Amino acid sequence: MPQGNSAATRDARHILHGYCNLADQRKNGPSVISGGQGIYVFDENGNAFLEAAAGMWCTAFGFNDEELIEAAIEQLYKLPYYHTLAYKSVNPAIDLAEKLSKIVPIHNAKFHFALSGSEANDFLIKFTRYYNNSIGRPEKKKIISRINGFHGATLGAASLSGIPVMHKAFDLPIKDIIHITEPNWFHNAYIGENSNDFTNRLVKELENTIISEGPETIAGFIAEPISGAGGVIIPPSNYYPRIQKILDHHDIMFFADEVICGFGRTGKMWGCESMDIQPSTMTLAKSLTSGYQPLSALVINDTMYQGMEKGCDNIGFFGHGTTYGGHPVSCAVALKVLDIFESRNMLKHISKVSAHFEKRIAEFKKHPLVGNVRSKGLLGAIELVADKNKKRFFEPKGSVAKRLRDLAEERHRLIVRQVPCGDTCAFSPPLIITENEIDDMFGRFSLALDQITDEITKEGLINKI
Ligand SMILES: Cc1ncc(COP(=O)(O)O)c(C=O)c1O
Repeated sequence: MPQGNSAATRDARHILHGYCNLADQRKNGPSVISGGQGIYVFDENGNAFLEAAAGMWCTAFGFNDEELIEAAIEQLYKLPYYHTLAYKSVNPAIDLAEKLSKIVPIHNAKFHFALSGSEANDFLIKFTRYYNNSIGRPEKKKIISRINGFHGATLGAASLSGIPVMHKAFDLPIKDIIHITEPNWFHNAYIGENSNDFTNRLVKELENTIISEGPETIAGFIAEPISGAGGVIIPPSNYYPRIQKILDHHDIMFFADEVICGFGRTGKMWGCESMDIQPSTMTLAKSLTSGYQPLSALVINDTMYQGMEKGCDNIGFFGHGTTYGGHPVSCAVALKVLDIFESRNMLKHISKVSAHFEKRIAEFKKHPLVGNVRSKGLLGAIELVADKNKKRFFEPKGSVAKRLRDLAEERHRLIVRQVPCGDTCAFSPPLIITENEIDDMFGRFSLALDQITDEITKEGLINKI
């Protein structure tokens, strides 16, 4: 139990947090982060932690980028708030939409701004309904998603997500969402099944699902190009082109959730480019502002927009909007993010350092506790197993990765994200990370990994190594 009247005590008294065990959180309190510099954050006792998860996969430019901070301050002085509803707009939102329209892989796109990835994905469900109702296809509303996909926390976005604990006791998912197998070869391939056969099986599953539900009832398929929170799952290279072919055949849209993958995370500007996807819509958030201000964008193609406009004409009014969507300060920061991508040649930097990241993370494959290593760009995961040869996982699932995460943080001042796919630690450091800092990050992780290996070997949790 946190003592005295510390920030942690007061927090435990007053705040209900997410993604934790509520009682544990109340008893132990949080670690309170009060400052940051570059890829490091500081707790209230002044301890510096290397942030290998970029906060919540979002602080692309680290924790004290002067240009981003200045952009927010400048806009606060100019116009701290105005809305973008009911025939009003603000310059930063207009400039941002114009700039994004030149770089997204959707021709003639329209942008709808919101505050979070969850909101934008929720609105995607609403817009899908509005569009199909508008063009006279009211039955075409179902969305296919994938088990272990993550799309946010609101009723709709949590329903799109395929993580059981996000549904249990919340009475989710809502209707018209269907979950199919995720392209996680390490976990889901049958014994002896190669990656091509695995892809064939998943493509067949999608096709069978569409046929059995009726293609006329399926509006879209949503996917993170590389799923993040589900465990950094990188599908076989022919998976998306084959999925896309089936979707196109049945007139089903591809909804790309770029909330983690967008803005260079996977090596190219968009996850869709890295993974060979032609999206009908995209959801952007997180690195859109480097996490400095809340902002998301739902990007829709012209066909969807035209259909919605036609429907609105009939109905007379588009009954949707939020107070803070297109917030001028958030949009000003996002504009600066796009500027910095150019002025600091970020894609070149990412290409250089990600080669080092991929090489360093791959070295963990040799470690006796590591069953699988996955990486693309500056997104990676290391998955632990109890028996490497027999691919035996730890029970209960996640218990060892959680201990490893805690040990890395407490003893080596390294923050990594433990994700709910097996015993997996994910890495998504700020994109500004240097090669030396990558060495430092994996050096700290390596020490923690060796320590946890010693501990659990003594406990008999793994096969003798
Ligand atoms: C892929 C993806 N989509 C959507 C979301 C939800 O975004 P937010 O937390 O901003 O609501 C997240 C959050 O982690 C995410 O990873």
